[in-house]
Amino acid sequence: MKVKYSDKIEAIPEYLFAEIDALVEKKSAQGVDVIKLSVGDPDLPTPANIVEKLGQASKDPSTHQYPSYLGMIEFRQSVSRWYRNRFNVSLDAANEVIALLGSKEGIAHLPRALLNPAELALVPDPGYPIYRSASLLAGASVESLPLDEAHGFLPEIAAIPKETAYRAKLLFLNYPNNPTGAVADLDFFRNVADWAVKHQVWVAHDSAYADLAFQSPHPSNLRIISKGIKSA
Ligand SMILES: Cc1ncc(COP(=O)(O)O)c(C=O)c1O
Repeated sequence: MKVKYSDKIEAIPEYLFAEIDALVEKKSAQGVDVIKLSVGDPDLPTPANIVEKLGQASKDPSTHQYPSYLGMIEFRQSVSRWYRNRFNVSLDAANEVIALLGSKEGIAHLPRALLNPAELALVPDPGYPIYRSASLLAGASVESLPLDEAHGFLPEIAAIPKETAYRAKLLFLNYPNNPTGAVADLDFFRNVADWAVKHQVWVAHDSAYADLAFQSPHPSNLRIISKGIKSA
């Protein structure tokens, strides 16, 4: 008998980008000149001043220790300043900002903090694959919310069946959106917030592309957060 992986690992789909990489490798081995439209890896070098600063910091023994759990307060204050200047959003650096290894790390761990086994996560479809796999790894159930061109690639929140809405505990959003490029406005976020408060759902807005929109600045959902709304 073959020893099996855990049920949670069996439940997660193959990682799309790994599948695409395998396909590209296969075609390249056949001599095909493939144009890769897979994961959005930077194709320009990291700016010299950043590389320089990292090099300097790596030689400073004070950086050779474990970091604090939340991240340096100077960094968190700087994030808070950026939110104020960029989005007119006020964040308490001490209690409302945390440093991550990247947004993927935060997304991957979030469902484990918010969902108990069998609770429901709603994920946009198409969407960044980690919302689904991280929720499945948390033992949660997942349902897709279709993003259609006819609705500006925004999920139709009002069309979510009542029963699903009351079962849902976490809703993932992502604007500016990958992969559609769609943007969202404050009215959309306001409707989502009203729906989320009514049904007691956490809203996780992945704004990884906040600075990559023609509509500038793209609004932050945190702008409309009011008392009583849970938002991650
Ligand atoms: C929608 C979305 N969120 C998050 C990420 C991950 O970003 P990071 O590099 O900060 O982990 C990506 C990267 O492709 C992405 O497309």
